[in-house]
Amino acid sequence: MSENQSIKPITVKENNNHLSIGGCDLVELAEKYNTPLYVIDEATLRGISKSYKNAFKEYQNIRMMYACKALCTSAIIKILNEEGFGFDVVSAGEIYTVYKAGVDMKKVLFNGNNKSYREIELALECGVGRFSVDNFYEAGLLNNIASKKGKKADILLRITPGIECHTHDYIKTGQTDSKFGFDLSQIDDIVNLIKNDYKNLNLRGLHAHIGSQIFETQCYYDEIEILVKEIARIKNTHGILLNEMNIGGGLGVKYTEADNPPPVSVLAQAVTSAMHKYAIDIPIIYIEPGRSIISTAGVTLYKVGSSKVVPGGKRYVAVDGGMADNPRPSMYQAKYTAEVANKLNYKETEKVTLAGRYCESGDILIENIELPKLEAGDIICVYNTGAYNYSMASNYNRVEKPAMVLVNNSHSDIIVYRETLDDLISKDDIPDRLKKND
Ligand code: LLP
Repeated sequence: MSENQSIKPITVKENNNHLSIGGCDLVELAEKYNTPLYVIDEATLRGISKSYKNAFKEYQNIRMMYACKALCTSAIIKILNEEGFGFDVVSAGEIYTVYKAGVDMKKVLFNGNNKSYREIELALECGVGRFSVDNFYEAGLLNNIASKKGKKADILLRITPGIECHTHDYIKTGQTDSKFGFDLSQIDDIVNLIKNDYKNLNLRGLHAHIGSQIFETQCYYDEIEILVKEIARIKNTHGILLNEMNIGGGLGVKYTEADNPPPVSVLAQAVTSAMHKYAIDIPIIYIEPGRSIISTAGVTLYKVGSSKVVPGGKRYVAVDGGMADNPRPSMYQAKYTAEVANKLNYKETEKVTLAGRYCESGDILIENIELPKLEAGDIICVYNTGAYNYSMASNYNRVEKPAMVLVNNSHSDIIVYRETLDDLISKDDIPDRLKKND
């Protein structure tokens, strides 16, 4: 079983009625660092990294690029750099974080559908290895900036392969009406522009990403067929040999018992067999997993506060976090699994709705979950929150973003400090004319 098939981090243990992860008692972590608290289990993170490496080890030409958008903090980048990953980045902030973490920038690929002038400049100055060019506007802009700097940018073309995968509409990207990438019918035009006019672009390959939280490998098989055929067609039509292919990310994880994602090895088999079936010259393959690398390693701890029973008997129990530290339930109707970290052997259970503390009716973390009878002060552990929680967190209601700790071998270290009230106002200013009556 690979780590993405487990709801919980691999080091989860029950200890005297308490949950522990990475050898650290979660109730003690909550006391020491306060709540809400993101906890990342280093063993699970390194475990899944090794699962990826093992699964693709037969394939010499694989380049694994962690999709930073899932969770981008300096310590996480450092660990994945040690594990041999490259990085898919989509903003100046992500570029800066990987650069500062000491990553060899040749191992970095810059994605995104609207890269700004400043971001492209920064990427060229830092020596980012590849640009995935998303549209005509960007191709012209990149060529322009590269030529001003006397550089040549190595690029892939992001294409929309026209593949529907079964996932939430908001996280599908491969279908023909997607906002990302060139439609197949536009490829000849962009290749001609690169050949004839854009002398500072060096076209190396194609890129597609079909969606996220994907449970079927057939769509990767179909995607590879399209990419390989396009590469062959470009060779025949334009005489350009492309030997790089980026198949994107997307492998799913198990948020609840109902989820059944394939292991990394099955994804690797699909990729390898599709390549052997369709490709004559096996290209360099890039793969960009985000969620499946970091989601299972992360949990969030919350403290129980108020509760109420509404007419009809439904009981709401509110915790001290919610949609600002995890917007996924309200954005995608995402489902999660939770346990009470201090009540593992508690016999009396009840069905409750775990509500967040934010001023929105939609701020519900988990509907109708059966948990030990809850009281104020209990510590709730929500599993599988490593991906797209902190990275999409906000300061809604002017609440400080939580801290994040890394746990391993019974040690815990802060990797992101909790925001302070002063942090919240640190970017504010008051015009002098408003100060004059002070
Ligand atoms: N490559 C590209 C070009 C992408 O757009 C993405 C994700 C990935 C790789 C990584 O995909 P992953 O392996 O993580 O599925 N916020 C949403 C997910 C949005 C994914 C956006 N792109 C969520 O919370 O479900």
